[in-house]
Amino acid sequence: MLAEFLAELDQLSCDALTAFQSAGDVAALEAARIEFLGMKSGRLKSAQKGLGAVDKADKPKAGQRFNQLKQQIEAALEAAQARLDSGAGAVTDGPCFDPTLPGIRPRLGHLHPLTQTIEELKDLMGRLGFSVVDGPEVEDEWHNFEALNIPLEHPARNPLDNFYLATAQRLGCAKPQAVGTGPQAAEEKELLLRSQTSTVQIRVMEKTPPPVRIISLGRVYRPDDADATHYPMFHQIEGLLVDRGITMADLKSVLRLFASSFFQDDVHIRFRPSFFPFTEPSVEVDMSWQGRWIEMGGAGMVDPNVFRAVGYDPEEYTGFAFGLGVERVCMRRHNVTDIREFYKNDVRFLEQFT
Ligand code: DAH
Repeated sequence: MLAEFLAELDQLSCDALTAFQSAGDVAALEAARIEFLGMKSGRLKSAQKGLGAVDKADKPKAGQRFNQLKQQIEAALEAAQARLDSGAGAVTDGPCFDPTLPGIRPRLGHLHPLTQTIEELKDLMGRLGFSVVDGPEVEDEWHNFEALNIPLEHPARNPLDNFYLATAQRLGCAKPQAVGTGPQAAEEKELLLRSQTSTVQIRVMEKTPPPVRIISLGRVYRPDDADATHYPMFHQIEGLLVDRGITMADLKSVLRLFASSFFQDDVHIRFRPSFFPFTEPSVEVDMSWQGRWIEMGGAGMVDPNVFRAVGYDPEEYTGFAFGLGVERVCMRRHNVTDIREFYKNDVRFLEQFT
């Protein structure tokens, strides 16, 4: 009802302004006055009757618009009278345009919650001196496994647990090559969608001599069934710091600083002994949440074999690395309980992150 009533008033406003503006003499103006403002059967009067049919809850809004319109029409009448008094004729420039009508409000979007989290993480780690680097999502086995001390027989390389790409070699168009013998020529490489951002550690160290202090954020892919905590594509934040004399204490303090700044509360972090081929010792990183520990990712001291693979001297340098799930961090921050929400594109969910 309200919408119809407001539409009727808009039409009335447009008609009245046009009539007053186009009145070229006193008689035409008087006719327009009677049509719109006539006490007995003027159009404004009959519109006022429509106010009675508007729902009670909408009455204040409808009444306000009605009063506004009345003032507007009366002002238009006065303006037309003044125009005729001054000897000017009808206003003929273009169709009626009422600049006082409320406009159509455009629906403004905003960044996706994961993008917001990524931006914030970059900002936060940037303040700790880490620069941001990117790496490719299509990787070769050297960067995804081999150089990270994950040998050919390691279960992480199982084709069923990775998205290998159908390269010419796999399709039988090229001679198969032995894998596991170091960085190969481009055309011989098996390609896959990277399963971890740790690949970027290798890419950076291959190009840059130590010291190194970087983070990398991006998508990784694993053929997992989607459920509340898994999705075949997700995001990781990878960190790597290499210098002389770096210890586990540096790792723990950086992660603690990260956690307390990002969550802005008294978050506790816990290291659990674990195993990753590219770190020794290795830990799982847990953070406290609502009285529980939740796993955020892995970390550790860079394994000497990784340094050897990129030509760093493990006797001279030590370093730490970590890899955390961006979705996990974002879920903890906003109390999101199902990872699939991030990918449904349901505005009712997304709108909550303005
Ligand atoms: N790449 C590991 C994963 O995806 C996470 C990880 C563990 C990254 C330890 C690291 C690390 O840099 O040191 O499960």
